[in-house]
Amino acid sequence: MQRRPRRNRKSAAVRAMVRETQVTCDDLIFPLFLLEGKNKKIEVASMPGIYRLSTDLMLREIEACLKLGIQSFDVFPVVEESYKDKLATRSYDPAFFYQKTLRMIKQEFPEACIMTDVALDPYNSDGHDGIVKDGKILNDETLEVLGRMALAQAETGIDIIGPSDMMDGRVAHIRDVLDDNGFTDVSIMSYTAKYASAFYGPFRDALDSAPKAGDKKTYQMDPANRTEALTEADLDVDEGADFLMVKPALAYLDVIRLLKDHYSLPIAAYNVSGEYAMISAAAQNGWLDRRAVMEETLLSIKRAGADIILTYFAKEFGEARK
Ligand code: PBG
Repeated sequence: MQRRPRRNRKSAAVRAMVRETQVTCDDLIFPLFLLEGKNKKIEVASMPGIYRLSTDLMLREIEACLKLGIQSFDVFPVVEESYKDKLATRSYDPAFFYQKTLRMIKQEFPEACIMTDVALDPYNSDGHDGIVKDGKILNDETLEVLGRMALAQAETGIDIIGPSDMMDGRVAHIRDVLDDNGFTDVSIMSYTAKYASAFYGPFRDALDSAPKAGDKKTYQMDPANRTEALTEADLDVDEGADFLMVKPALAYLDVIRLLKDHYSLPIAAYNVSGEYAMISAAAQNGWLDRRAVMEETLLSIKRAGADIILTYFAKEFGEARK
């Protein structure tokens, strides 16, 4: 035998030398769920180890993560039903607890990279990402609200806007609104290829944001489609996105690779709530080794081509590396 690939696997040192992919804390964004009020910490039942936190506790959580080397966070608000309306008006109210908390986070931790979510669903009494009229999701009318929401978030000092709504033309519209108001430095991480996935279930539990009627299939992508992700990516690049995201991650590793091979912008992947829930449930039953499966999962997403991973495992990964 002239060639023996096993020689490059013979010791930990040799394996480390030839290792092609490394995940580090720098690659990760930690999604956080914000509650109104004080001293509140409520676990998400379908996401063991993940909590909805009030502002005071979230500030301490961010501090703890920064110490572990996790520097980026995506903050989602849990909005009480009584605040919701058809036009999602709280989403651009500067006095609303979400916007106030973002301001406090950036004041206390200017060095942290804070991302926000732009979509109507947490604030909308219909539970859809856009305005609903006669059972239809209105595209162009929704853009106006998305622009106001993005502006209200940018005014708090945050770093990255994350449009997750999948309306057509939203990146261009948000970019225009931000630039017209002097926020040329605020980035856009577009949810470029966001699929109509059943893996978002636990997230909708966490936010209590599931659609009241219908599904999201007229705006989120069909899981059967790959080429269509290129159409979405072409548009996002033209419209001024700074990052392209694929979501979910694990069932869409081929789409991550596709975008990585076709575009020069950084590619992000969202390791979503259902993916976290599956691993947590199996680990709780003693069926899988949680730490090892977490490491392998994040590695697979990076190997597929993701430069950035949004993951509920971020803090745990940081702790495991300490
Ligand atoms: C809201 C939004 C969703 C997620 C991120 N932003 C849910 C949805 O589109 O229904 C899902 C995140 C996750 O499952 O972890 N537009």
